[in-house]
Amino acid sequence: MSLVDKVEENKANIISLLQETGREGIDGLVGWLEQSDYFTAPASSRPDFHGCHEGGLAEHSLNVYQLFRGKVAMYGLEVGDDEMAIAALLHDLCKVNTYKPNVLKSGKVSEAKPYVVKDEMPLGHGEKSVMMAGKHIELTPNEALLMRWHMAQFDGAWEVYEHKVAKSCPAVYAFQFSDHEASKYVDAKVVR
Ligand SMILES: [Fe+2]
Ligand SMILES: [Fe+2]
Repeated sequence: MSLVDKVEENKANIISLLQETGREGIDGLVGWLEQSDYFTAPASSRPDFHGCHEGGLAEHSLNVYQLFRGKVAMYGLEVGDDEMAIAALLHDLCKVNTYKPNVLKSGKVSEAKPYVVKDEMPLGHGEKSVMMAGKHIELTPNEALLMRWHMAQFDGAWEVYEHKVAKSCPAVYAFQFSDHEASKYVDAKVVR
């Protein structure tokens, strides 16, 4: 399948998963996603990181969704179908409209680092995703907690909040592992 076809297929899947939630405001959110670079953006700026290619962010989000669904079923976690879709597909909204091509003086895009990040709203990783989704839909406590804390130990505040978060949202570890597994094993080949 060509890259263009893959991007279109992922886009169609994501839109239908979001629409199936029936959440109030979801059409507005989908409309905003379509106008943004969500479906074409990469998931990272370097090829030795995950999803550093056109459509990498959407592909990663779908991979997290699939992995998380499996873990929710395996461990009998209490997370609704709508919550799984919304948390997984929107957890990295903070990356939308932030990756720009890293054009060198020669006029060519750098192979070592094809993108640079220009974040106009550096609110924090999960925090920004929660804020951006919250402009369109009302998030459930599960969704907000999963999205906010998906970076686990890579977020300095996790150590302080872990106990409380795990009590309020026992699925948080399954979500963090899904994000990590997707980025390390599923999204792209491990170069290093
Ligand atoms: Fe993330
Ligand atoms: Fe992620």
